Amino acid sequence: MEIIICPDADSASLSAADQVASLLHSKPTAVLGLATGGTPLALYSEIIRKYQKHQINFSQASSFNLDEYIGLAPGHPASYQSFMQENLFRHINMPAESVHIPDGLAVDVPSHCLAYENSIREAGGIDLQILGIGTDGHIGFNEPTSSLASRTRIKTLTERTRSDNARFFHSMEEVPHHVITMGIGTIMESRAISLLAFGESKARAVADMVEGPITSSVPASILQMHPTVRVFLDEPAAALLSRRDYYRHVFARKPSWQKW
Ligand code: GLP
Repeated sequence: MEIIICPDADSASLSAADQVASLLHSKPTAVLGLATGGTPLALYSEIIRKYQKHQINFSQASSFNLDEYIGLAPGHPASYQSFMQENLFRHINMPAESVHIPDGLAVDVPSHCLAYENSIREAGGIDLQILGIGTDGHIGFNEPTSSLASRTRIKTLTERTRSDNARFFHSMEEVPHHVITMGIGTIMESRAISLLAFGESKARAVADMVEGPITSSVPASILQMHPTVRVFLDEPAAALLSRRDYYRHVFARKPSWQKW
């Protein structure tokens, strides 16, 4: 894992956006894996800014989102479909047919999940997966004890995750219990992964992910087995890393030929 400790969330988001731009320049048909939540908001704003300045073009690109709540109509303000339209897609030129988000109203969920996996495969696989991390170490909605080989499927949320995400709803009761999420095995097949984590509330999960044992109790710890993971942190999220001085040392001495 490459650990990039930035002075703040905005500079970390800027670096992550530069990486997206550089991918799209070298591969205009890139397939992006996208995440929701508070964490990627500044990244998406920066991507929109780059698009408005004609520095980035999505006309041939496509995307697959990690997850969606079951039972929320696409137009529900807290659905991830609404989140993505509002915070990214309505501002950029990715063709609507190239945007993929699991359908929270799918009648036959297992078939829908299988079809989602097939679409990722048919698109050629994900080039760059953007991830956040839950306070319990989840990625996507793969809660602790998820199979590290899991594929896209239904999951039941922990009460901690429901409570963390309740701020996007009017009340805790409104937060769905069930979701569709890409599996950990699905995420691990992405060619490159950028995980962003900001704030003190993520420090424990980040330290467990980077320096702890690989365990399904901390689903993000499996990323230690992926060859191309970049972790963009602000100072508070990096606070519990015991080797953070080493990570800074490595980053400061990164050879100039070593590209993103
Ligand atoms: C949700 C999403 C995750 C996200 C996590 C953290 O559970 N399914 O993809 O990483 O929340 O959210 P936030 O960025 O708001 O802290």
